[in-house]
Amino acid sequence: MKKISLNIDKALGFVTREQIYAQEAKANESNAMLHNGTGAGNDFLGWLHLPSSITDAELTDIENTANLLRSKCEVVVAVGIGGSYLGTKAVVEALNNSFDWLQTDRKNPVILYAGQNIGEDYLYELSEILKGKQFGIINISKSGTTTEPALAFRILKKQLEEAVGKEEAKHRIVAITDANKGALRTLADQEGYKTFIIPDNVGGRFSVLTPVGLLPIAVAGISIRDLVAGAVVMEKATGTDVPFADNMAAIYAATRNELYQSGKKIEILANFHPKLHYIAEWWKQLYGESEGKDGKGIFPASVDLTTDLHSMGQWIQDGERTIFETVISVETLDRTVIIETDKENLDGLNFLAGKRVDEVNKMAELGTQLAHVDGGVPNLKITLPQVTPYYIGQLFYFFEKACGISGYMLGVNPFDQPGVEAYKKNMFALLDKPGFEKETEAIKARL
Ligand code: PA5
Repeated sequence: MKKISLNIDKALGFVTREQIYAQEAKANESNAMLHNGTGAGNDFLGWLHLPSSITDAELTDIENTANLLRSKCEVVVAVGIGGSYLGTKAVVEALNNSFDWLQTDRKNPVILYAGQNIGEDYLYELSEILKGKQFGIINISKSGTTTEPALAFRILKKQLEEAVGKEEAKHRIVAITDANKGALRTLADQEGYKTFIIPDNVGGRFSVLTPVGLLPIAVAGISIRDLVAGAVVMEKATGTDVPFADNMAAIYAATRNELYQSGKKIEILANFHPKLHYIAEWWKQLYGESEGKDGKGIFPASVDLTTDLHSMGQWIQDGERTIFETVISVETLDRTVIIETDKENLDGLNFLAGKRVDEVNKMAELGTQLAHVDGGVPNLKITLPQVTPYYIGQLFYFFEKACGISGYMLGVNPFDQPGVEAYKKNMFALLDKPGFEKETEAIKARL
């Protein structure tokens, strides 16, 4: 089986290979710190061996639960925010038909999402669309106390219980949370829901290969065994025994850190396939939360191309030269659309006749890469042989491993997220949450 690959050649006009290889010792040391558990945040390294340590029994339990939901539900709502939903959405969007929800002969339940915002219109419309539909809920929160999913779950739980009765609702609700603590654990135990545990030592943004991602992905009809198998390959390929030159996670970490030191403060993850949009959203959380701290960190941004070449293209080509670009390139697509000859040729496109649409896209990709390099944007390229669970599994683990290495190279703790708390404190104070009286008084005085 092939592997995903990384090509840094088009970044080398901006930083040299020598500069990147000068980071070899630091990158290897950072990788070793992950494996030895000697770095900051070492109580959150459970993700490191998740792919190779997940057992057949655990996968079977997830698959059986997924099958139960699949047999009962036409829609399953995955409730969660941040790391508790982005991995699922990334995989489901990448692998399912783009117009899945409009298909009438569906084999798999539609996965909808809630708790990833506090949008009242969104919740109202979700609740309306669920009326009269057989639905279930996977409620995911590692802490079990996050406001957004808790709020959505309260509303959806009531709706489900009213629709099918409290007893049946219990069989359609699965909770994924901490083994012992948090409001969701208490609620799930009290109601008697089927639960899965998010290990203590796996942070939200590194949890896609736990039941957090695996259960809803399995409900969507996607092979979680292939996903895990792909991740296992990358776990091996990025180990401490792999030489720097062959370790794509270490090379990626070293290159982006070198670019950062040279003034490239923003990394844009670009894809040329709209189905990969949420892979970038997942990646943004991973890198943004892991590295953006202590006044440091590359700002992770993303674009869908060629779509955004007609909106952000000008900025990327010609704006402030503080960016570099990492392109996710796909070798082989699943579908074929051939451009046909048109007798009248009024649109002037007959020069493309006989070609696949993807050939045009690939030339757009190549042309864009060269244009951006000419415009002063260093370019990295990650190639996926195909968009399959197996290669997405590789990609997830590659990005996770590179993120850990990169965070240590940068000198931050990649596994905490103290900054996420600031808005919560203010929100609770503004909402008069009991226990926040002092903060309420202070914040109201500022208004
Ligand atoms: O990376 C993280 O840990 C966080 O951003 C979480 O993913 C997010 O806040 C959701 O948290 P929880 O699963 O505890 O509800």
